[in-house]
Amino acid sequence: MKKFYHGKTVYITGGSSGIGLECAKLCASFGAHVVIIARDQNKLESACKEISRFRKNDAQRISWASLDVTGAAEVERNIPLIVGKHGSPEILIACAGESYSDYFENIGFEKFDAIMKVNVYGLRNIIFALLPYMKNKSSHISIVSSLAGLVGVFGYTAYGTSKFAAVGFAECLRPELKRYGITISVVCPPEVDTPLLRKELVSAPREGQAVKKFAGFLTPQFVAKVMLKKIAQKSFLIIPGFRAKMTYFFHRHSNGRISRIVSDLIIKIRAKNSKL
Ligand SMILES: NC(=O)c1ccc[n+]([C@@H]2O[C@H](COP(=O)([O-])OP(=O)(O)OC[C@H]3O[C@@H](n4cnc5c(N)ncnc54)[C@H](OP(=O)(O)O)[C@@H]3O)[C@@H](O)[C@H]2O)c1
Repeated sequence: MKKFYHGKTVYITGGSSGIGLECAKLCASFGAHVVIIARDQNKLESACKEISRFRKNDAQRISWASLDVTGAAEVERNIPLIVGKHGSPEILIACAGESYSDYFENIGFEKFDAIMKVNVYGLRNIIFALLPYMKNKSSHISIVSSLAGLVGVFGYTAYGTSKFAAVGFAECLRPELKRYGITISVVCPPEVDTPLLRKELVSAPREGQAVKKFAGFLTPQFVAKVMLKKIAQKSFLIIPGFRAKMTYFFHRHSNGRISRIVSDLIIKIRAKNSKL
């Protein structure tokens, strides 16, 4: 696996925190050049310092670029400058994303729109702008979706919808990019211990929390390790964690029936217990 990354240039959106940051550290430890992209410059700078500690040699470039992936024009204007400065990528890990969980009737249009903008249009914008630089060099694009992009979850009408869209986007893009020798993966982790999850807990309905626990809880280090291994093997659908894999397996092979029964049961028990 290390050989696959050695000497390659890896761009990671959302590389300043959580899963993206752990992917960046691992890539650096495998001898890759790493460019992390996010908005907050202070976070990017300190993440870069952290990632640099994992370098295998001094020739490796670890750099950052501040960019909001939601703005199509801004992304298209800045990517040629970023590529000119840091080199073009052989691997793109599109990890930038935000979550929000609440009852549907509490999610106003602005919140719903903000989630769609980063999790769907953000993906589209960064891939569209980087594609010309990734053709015909056996490149790989990894799209970070979620297990909530394969199985519907209580409280996730905004987030889950955006993550289902990410899976659909990856499915449609895969055959198109094959003709340029670009492979695609879509990553669907269950709950992962990151700042995103802690922020989500502020508004998340209790019913959704109980249902999500069923599919497992992972560290970002574990998720990054599985991702990089499966990317190197050119797997398309990557589901880190045994419980998450089983959740999807039963969902898929029962046409969604088993996950609906389990979810409804957990929500019923939860409601009964809170009345006691
Ligand atoms: N944690 C989980 O339980 C979980 C489970 C399944 C899937 N995922 C997915 O995994 C991905 C990474 O999540 P995480 O948990 O690692 O979250 P995180 O620690 O909050 O990291 C999110 C990253 O995305 C960047 N970002 C957010 N909005 C952006 C924008 N508009 N433009 C550019 N960068 C932006 C953030 O930096 P700035 O804020 O500085 O821009 C940060 O670097 C997300 O797509 C998430 O949906 C997470």
